Amino acid sequence: MTTTTAAPTGIFITFEGIDGAGKSSHIGALADLWRAQGRSVTLTREPGGTPLAEQLRTLLLHDAMDPLSEALLMFAARRDHLLQVIEPALARGDVVLCDRFTDATFAYQGHGRGFDLGTLATLEQWVQTVPACATVRQPDLTLWFDVPPAVAAARLAGARDPDKFEALPTEFFARVAAGYAARLQADPGRFARINAQLPLPDVWAQVQQACQRSGWLA
Ligand code: TYD
Repeated sequence: MTTTTAAPTGIFITFEGIDGAGKSSHIGALADLWRAQGRSVTLTREPGGTPLAEQLRTLLLHDAMDPLSEALLMFAARRDHLLQVIEPALARGDVVLCDRFTDATFAYQGHGRGFDLGTLATLEQWVQTVPACATVRQPDLTLWFDVPPAVAAARLAGARDPDKFEALPTEFFARVAAGYAARLQADPGRFARINAQLPLPDVWAQVQQACQRSGWLA
């Protein structure tokens, strides 16, 4: 008699929010938690995550360009990242923790810059169609760190040199935040809204609870 062991199931979790929402420290802490449970973790980010996509990140975060070029380069970086890093990691059964993904493109390029949402939806379908997925690849869970734009701006003030996006006015981030809210409304089952205005331990508790609700963490 032969016994077969089921391949581990990969889990794809993304982290979203306006600049200054405070998601970064929680991504590392969540990685440690999964590793302590014996899971292999792939920690990555967008735009970026591969040599090509990191080069595109440098251009995207520092060079002025029109909204169409910006959206296309975001999706070009994403396609490379998805094929080279995310899909192989999910196939191995890793927990993939990705700092930003397509919701950021809808929020920043769509709602923030005003780029056509229908075109973004078409690009999303093209770019996230992958052999391993019968439908379009989407995160299993998206943690949206929701914070009022004025609070985020105060957190960023005086921090390191702002990049192209961080230097944008609070009104831009109000539109981006509305974009995230719209994405949540369109797919509420995928999202966990984290109240990121609370003190850090309370935010961390919400992050853990969101993963526990999904049944992935004890
Ligand atoms: P961010 O993730 O905040 O990294 P860091 O913590 O190093 O600043 O920076 C990425 C920036 O890119 C952020 O301002 C949001 C922006 N962005 C978009 O505008 N569209 C996208 O699709 C993605 C992935 C990011």
